[in-house]
Amino acid sequence: MSETVTILGLESSCDDTAASVVRHVAGVPAEILSSVVFDQHALHADFGGVVPEIAARAHAERLDICVEAALKEASLCLTQVDAIAVTSGPGLIGGVLSGVMCAKGLAAGAGKPLISVNHLAGHALTPRMTDDAVFPYLMLLVSGGHCQFLIVHAADRFTRLGGTIDDAPGEAFDKTAKLLGLGNPGGPLVEREAIKGDAARFKLPRPLLDRAGCDMSFSGLKTALRRARDLIVDEKGGLTVQDRADLCAGFQAAVAETLVEKTRRACLAFMDQTNATTPMLAVAGGVAANTAIRAGLQELCKVQGFDFLAPPLKYCTDNAAMIAWVGVEKYRAGDFSSMAMAARPRWPLDQAAKPMLGSGKKGAKA
Ligand code: KG4
Ligand code: ZN
Repeated sequence: MSETVTILGLESSCDDTAASVVRHVAGVPAEILSSVVFDQHALHADFGGVVPEIAARAHAERLDICVEAALKEASLCLTQVDAIAVTSGPGLIGGVLSGVMCAKGLAAGAGKPLISVNHLAGHALTPRMTDDAVFPYLMLLVSGGHCQFLIVHAADRFTRLGGTIDDAPGEAFDKTAKLLGLGNPGGPLVEREAIKGDAARFKLPRPLLDRAGCDMSFSGLKTALRRARDLIVDEKGGLTVQDRADLCAGFQAAVAETLVEKTRRACLAFMDQTNATTPMLAVAGGVAANTAIRAGLQELCKVQGFDFLAPPLKYCTDNAAMIAWVGVEKYRAGDFSSMAMAARPRWPLDQAAKPMLGSGKKGAKA
């Protein structure tokens, strides 16, 4: 096994163009030499969601600048990296293609090996990069595009315990913000309002809690919130500041409670299916930034006897360091890709799990 591995990673599967250099010396925690992220919020702001065409074009225009910035920040040139790792799915296909073409060009030009990375594996293996996490552990991935529970057995072996059958929670937060006239991205704004609100005023549903297992649903919650809002508007002609805060608090409490209960079931399934002696729950995704949700999960872990790990937020949300890290793991395993490697819009981590019914607006098909 090579002592030191240095990988350039590229990410462009949704609305963040990112490049990063990660170095790993065997037996020592990873060193993130650079992690550059160009977000596209401004480009999509007028459309109420990510426009795949605009995203793909922006990735194509920015990837090489992003790579240059990442190499510069790492004080390296392309010839000094061992391989180029790139997200080749799942995601919005135009963006994924932009990244894959860029990576192939760099690999061919510099004569470096190419490594194909599953975006979800990037999230799932982040605790190994940031905290040297030991297999197996339980991962809850909650973002604007994804929501699933995974047992991470090894760098290339995952069991999907369940996930959303329709919207991702971040998407529901964003839609709630839109319904209530707040801005974008909605999660932090809904959270800010919720602090001032009374979560008990509106009785919003806790979807799928009556069904066994870890699957979740968030689209009905959004409809219930819309109804509650419309009732007030019909009655009073509009929302007061307090109405809005109470709706946000009620919505956030419903999401938190649902996530915590489903996580409890995932913890039990994890214990059933592994022989972990020090079980751990790790989170990833933007929604994991929510204080109420995080506190609920932390409390649950205490009760279940699980360690709780939330990597720094910049590595929980979309970034290329996590892609470079999977590159490190695959490099050490000798798992390289050919120049014929294809971009994949759908690419579940657990090939044996039954396909989910729905998908998030951001296009994660996993
Ligand atoms: O992981 P992320 O950056 O990537 C994508 O899915 O693209 O997650 C972004 C999502 C958005 O939907 C955002 O509203 C949500 O995470 N989010 C939050 C909070 N901060 C970000 N949701 C709830 N509470 C927050 N504090
Ligand atoms: Zn992601």
